[in-house]
Amino acid sequence: MLRRGLRNRGSISYSGALFAESFHRLLSTQTGGKLQDKVALITGAASGIGKATATKFINNGAKVIIADIHQQLGEETARELGSNATFITCDVTEESHISNAVDFAISKYKQLDIMYNNAGIACKSPLSIVDLDMALFDKVMDINVRGVVAGIKHAARVMIPRGSGSILCTASVTGVMGGIAQHTYSISKFAVVGVVKSLAAELCRHGIRVNCISPFAIPTPFALGEMSQIFPHVDRQRHVDIIHNAGVLKGVNCEPNDIANAALFLASDNAKYVSGHNMVVDGGFTSFKNLHFPAPDQVQ
Ligand SMILES: NC(=O)c1ccc[n+]([C@@H]2O[C@H](COP(=O)([O-])OP(=O)(O)OC[C@H]3O[C@@H](n4cnc5c(N)ncnc54)[C@H](O)[C@@H]3O)[C@@H](O)[C@H]2O)c1
Repeated sequence: MLRRGLRNRGSISYSGALFAESFHRLLSTQTGGKLQDKVALITGAASGIGKATATKFINNGAKVIIADIHQQLGEETARELGSNATFITCDVTEESHISNAVDFAISKYKQLDIMYNNAGIACKSPLSIVDLDMALFDKVMDINVRGVVAGIKHAARVMIPRGSGSILCTASVTGVMGGIAQHTYSISKFAVVGVVKSLAAELCRHGIRVNCISPFAIPTPFALGEMSQIFPHVDRQRHVDIIHNAGVLKGVNCEPNDIANAALFLASDNAKYVSGHNMVVDGGFTSFKNLHFPAPDQVQ
């Protein structure tokens, strides 16, 4: 019953969000959005958080380059988002792909205002450090950390001469507290927060802001893939419920649009004095622990 209630609330709020997005798109074409005439490059934008952010940015007046390793999905997403979205194939483990994507933005639009290093992968690895698979560790670091550093490097290359820019990265609640995910993924996300702080320290001198967003678990293909490996015997809806039930904030669930809203704020001039920041979007999950003491009258 509780689960059904949660599910219903989720679908009502999702259709509400879709309506709000359509309304906002209409409004922004008439009034100009928060990112009017800005150019954004988003890695991993064919799906999930990246796609929701690309949608949000376009609805706020931006032109978006969708850079993703998944060509078919990326092209479909770009078609769906219309003429202000362009797809480019990009594997973030290949520095030349990132460099090409940045150069493509410059050749098409003459500028790059926002670089969102969002692409990342999960990994199912043994829970104990003793059994750590170092090859898998390297692969995850290659995408989740090296890919982010390369993205910032090439964005900075074109932003420094202009003396402005906003760089975003997707970290995670698993990079805020230990124990939420297995070591490899968690370490990669702690590293993203470190990358952001280290590079914000240099790039502030050039008027470039660098921030990251740490989402709570969201049932995107990324998280659902993990769930189906851990719980292969139950269906997709049950996986969604397990993810949503892990949250602490009553009555709402973490959705891609919540991260897109955070990204819109950080990318826009509303955050013109925010840099080196890790914006945690987790309903309070990493801020507290509750002591589940029994009620006084239950203790004899
Ligand atoms: N969903 C969650 O629960 C959650 C929570 C915290 C952080 N994150 C982070 O959010 C980011 C986006 O994940 P999502 O949940 O939207 O997942 P998703 O699976 O919906 O999207 C990830 C996208 O990244 C692309 N991608 C994967 N490897 C790539 C590579 N080497 N080069 C370029 N693109 C690549 C995929 O094709 C896909 O389109 C990731 O960095 C992830 O670690 C997700």
